[in-house]
Amino acid sequence: MRKVAVVTGGVSGIGKAICQELIARHIFVIIADIQEHEGRILEAELNKDAVHAKFVPLNVTDYKNVASVIHDVFEEFHRIDYLFNNAGIAMYGEMGEMTIEDWKEIMAINLWGVIYGTQIGYPLMKKQGFGHIVNTSSAAGLGPSPFSTAYATTKHAVIGLTTSLHYEAEEFGIKVSTLCPTFVDTPIFDNAKAIHMDKSIITKQLKQQKMISPQRIAKMAIEGVHQNKPIICPMPMRKTLDVVFTIFPFLHKALMRMVCKVSRNARLT
Ligand SMILES: NC(=O)c1ccc[n+]([C@@H]2O[C@H](COP(=O)([O-])OP(=O)(O)OC[C@H]3O[C@@H](n4cnc5c(N)ncnc54)[C@H](O)[C@@H]3O)[C@@H](O)[C@H]2O)c1
Repeated sequence: MRKVAVVTGGVSGIGKAICQELIARHIFVIIADIQEHEGRILEAELNKDAVHAKFVPLNVTDYKNVASVIHDVFEEFHRIDYLFNNAGIAMYGEMGEMTIEDWKEIMAINLWGVIYGTQIGYPLMKKQGFGHIVNTSSAAGLGPSPFSTAYATTKHAVIGLTTSLHYEAEEFGIKVSTLCPTFVDTPIFDNAKAIHMDKSIITKQLKQQKMISPQRIAKMAIEGVHQNKPIICPMPMRKTLDVVFTIFPFLHKALMRMVCKVSRNARLT
């Protein structure tokens, strides 16, 4: 029987590339995203030769919406092999200039969206006795990310949730991984919310970083899933850097101070 995957935030960037990679591996994909018009276009594109995918509108901040989408998939296909809780947004700003509403906005999508998906998908996977949940975090979840404090907060929490559940879920035959990309060339930077900061300057700075293509990260994600890694992180030399920064903490401090200095240049006066 054909395997079934649900991908939130599947219309753009990393989510879209994951959908394409899953289809290439003969897995049926449910693309779940808030962008309905673009979702329908992508659905038609992916189904040009044969039916490989279905688009469903989804707002991950709405618990009832997440529950009905995931339950409907389970009812229709009688299985969910993979659940990628991937939808997310970026937000730049200094803590002192952010409002509680800004915090609630990013927490609702990046953290509660992932919690809802996991909370709803996990019992269904327990019932069927198999399945793999993949929650998208970020390299920003593995360390400090000044001027993206709220984003980093959500992504650290996703790692805590996912790596803990990775072990808790083992006895039920369920696998749980978190994907921690570095810089991936997607619209997330152009769409990011910049609070009292000049987004064009930040975007320019970020785009100077070495960007990975969404297709490459999607391949890495699926390989990491096959290896059942708790953390799938494509950061080259991540382990080496961890060791270097542990032995020479001043190097890490210097790097973070440089990030702050560069980010301050983008602040609006
Ligand atoms: N691009 C990067 O460099 C990078 C790095 C690390 C982590 N990530 C993470 O990867 C994930 C995907 O990001 P991307 O770079 O592909 O960005 P993207 O903007 O290309 O895609 C994000 C998708 O999420 C959807 N989405 C946003 N809010 C939603 C909501 N409330 N309900 C349903 N869908 C919603 C958007 O419509 C979009 O299709 C995010 O969680 C992001 O934080 C990205």
